Amino acid sequence: MSTPSRRPLGTTGMQIAPIGLGCMGMSEFYGKSDDAQSVALIHHALDAGMNFFDTADMYGPWTNEVLVGGALRARRDEAVIATKFGVMRDDNKGFLGINGKPEYVRACCDASLERLGVDTIDLYYQHRVDPNTPIEETVGAMAELVKAGKVRALGLSEATPEQVRRAHAVHPISALQTEFSLWSREPELELLDTCKELGITFVAYSPLGRGFLTGAIQSPEDFAADDFRRHNPRFQGENFQKNLDLVATVRAMAADKGVTPAQLALAWLLSHGEHVVTIPGTRSQKRFDENQGARQVTLTAQELAFLDEALPVGATAGARY
Ligand SMILES: NC(=O)c1ccc[n+]([C@@H]2O[C@H](COP(=O)([O-])OP(=O)(O)OC[C@H]3O[C@@H](n4cnc5c(N)ncnc54)[C@H](OP(=O)(O)O)[C@@H]3O)[C@@H](O)[C@H]2O)c1
Repeated sequence: MSTPSRRPLGTTGMQIAPIGLGCMGMSEFYGKSDDAQSVALIHHALDAGMNFFDTADMYGPWTNEVLVGGALRARRDEAVIATKFGVMRDDNKGFLGINGKPEYVRACCDASLERLGVDTIDLYYQHRVDPNTPIEETVGAMAELVKAGKVRALGLSEATPEQVRRAHAVHPISALQTEFSLWSREPELELLDTCKELGITFVAYSPLGRGFLTGAIQSPEDFAADDFRRHNPRFQGENFQKNLDLVATVRAMAADKGVTPAQLALAWLLSHGEHVVTIPGTRSQKRFDENQGARQVTLTAQELAFLDEALPVGATAGARY
């Protein structure tokens, strides 16, 4: 059975595409991009009935929100826009740390509304939990934004089960966004169950292993000089070679099924239940269509068991960051 075209966003009543669109790579991290092509892709996604778009203030930094907001402006009511605050950047693309202080939350939200050109952000995430600010204080400030009508629903990213519970006690959390894929399976240990129990949608980011699980990346030399993956542990020397073996398993199984490795990786994520959605990133209409095609792919119990064994938690060489 194929996956329906919408899954609920927490208990908000909003309905989102189970396979959304991660827009980060349109502005930074994975090499060169083309704004006109990205805008065309966003329109293509809307035409295809896809409604869930993911951005963050720190992508670019700041330019990704302008790009995404601009592309969606004339069709605002067709889109659920998710953005994030909390990672401080500077004008030279440097990273200045994490900030979850209430005054920072308020200032970031106003700035994101302005850049996106919208009256309300549908889903507003804390991008990383600030170790120096109690999560209750941050979420308290986020809850005020809901009250003020600036934000519809709240989310967290990369929070622990305990942090999710603490935050949820202050104000309902609608989404938890965390890395989850065939090569990052840690959320299966506890986080997925926590989300299910609390009625929170789990949004799997980097579902294609930052492109690696698609089989399209064969050498670290394929990356541009400023590509984030050049410095990511999983893409280095020996790790890279070891991880290619994992991808070989995914490729072989996909070929047997007559689907692409990307479709297999995404279908596997969706098989975890209605509370799981994902946001693969791409700048290509062809790949967008391919990725959306994963909704038509179903995995048998036998296939799921095979993947479970072939790619267990911890099988991937190298840390996520
Ligand atoms: N919350 C967080 O901390 C966090 C962290 C990272 C990402 N994210 C969000 O999650 C989204 C997705 O994650 P991601 O972009 O890091 O990784 P991803 O979705 O796992 O992979 C994206 C990469 O895969 C390539 N790709 C996509 N579809 C493909 C296909 N069918 N065949 C071959 N290659 C394909 C893309 O290249 P092309 O663009 O050239 O197609 C891109 O390089 C981001 O856009 C961002 O919105 C959130």
